[in-house]
Amino acid sequence: MQTKRWYIDERQPEQQAIEEAADRLRNGRTVAFPTETVYGLGADATDEAAVSGIFEAKGRPEDNPLIAHVATKKQLSRLVTTLPSVAEKLIDTFTPGPITIVLPSNGTCASNVTAGLSTIGVRIPDHPVAQNLLKTCDIPVAAPSANISGKPSPTTADHVWADLQGKIAGLVDAGATGVGLESTVIDCTQEIPVILRPGGITKAQLEMAVGSVMVDPALANTADKPKAPGMKYKHYAPDVPMWLVAGSPENIQAVIDRERDDAKRIGVMASTQTANRLQADRIITLGSDLRDIAATLYDALRVFKNGDVDLIVCETFPRTDIGQAIMNRLEKAATAYVDS
Ligand code: TXA
Ligand code: MG
Repeated sequence: MQTKRWYIDERQPEQQAIEEAADRLRNGRTVAFPTETVYGLGADATDEAAVSGIFEAKGRPEDNPLIAHVATKKQLSRLVTTLPSVAEKLIDTFTPGPITIVLPSNGTCASNVTAGLSTIGVRIPDHPVAQNLLKTCDIPVAAPSANISGKPSPTTADHVWADLQGKIAGLVDAGATGVGLESTVIDCTQEIPVILRPGGITKAQLEMAVGSVMVDPALANTADKPKAPGMKYKHYAPDVPMWLVAGSPENIQAVIDRERDDAKRIGVMASTQTANRLQADRIITLGSDLRDIAATLYDALRVFKNGDVDLIVCETFPRTDIGQAIMNRLEKAATAYVDS
């Protein structure tokens, strides 16, 4: 399949690109587009065959439901049986923004969007291009992250191109995304909302808005079956093994030196402060605060290629603010956890 790539910049009027992309979506085809978190791979959420195209292109397991994206609260309310007051509060406070709300589905979306569940994840993204595309095509758009299943989510159009070129009908390229990690998924089908996936909106922010919020116990304890089906899969894997190493820069350096003695080439991912104090074969600096680290993490995970280095050593980060989401993704990407 030929993948059409539109550039949202001075090369072409934005509306022309968006109209073409929207046409493809309305015609049952797959189009990748930017959101404020990561690029998504979209298809008409009401069209089962179109949605199958997403699973096929990504190689995604069929039991993993997709998020339906819409431009407005009104469109969102058309996909669910009820809008409980806590969900309404979350929508009014955080959308458009990096949050996905799980509610009872009313069946408007195709059954493969929800992977047969009675609930549906709905999201109003906060990206001008995503908003424009969703308003222009005027259909709910099912969209998982636009990567091959198991790989890090794409934060640039080049990441999408590398994974899906030739497998999808289009790609709207508007440069790098902002947050860099996927939306917070929160289940609002019970009285107290439950965080199923940590993300751009933190637990503290959610509690400020709606009071008590629980966290899916499976996020802390790998023995429990996660409520977001996608959370059980190994994810975000770089090409080479990655160790998450806790401890001071000196302790991390000791682990690097020990492994180098084995003639291994070592790549490092660390904050600016830590990176300045380490020596290795290749060092990628993620940034100096947690928000910067979140924004660069997935790109860094794609940089190290087989043959470049034999092992990636990555620092651990405090689980405060977006650090919770960073550590959740790193734990899925890592092959081992070393407490140095
Ligand atoms: O930021 C994001 O959320 C990005 C952008 C493109 O919007 N999308 C994204 O989609 O990360 P995906 O498919 O890669 O991750 C969706 C997660 C999965 O873990 C899935 O299992 C969970 O949300 N999910 C979706 N619908 C659900 C439902 N009805 N109940 C529980 N979990 C659900
Ligand atoms: Mg994903």
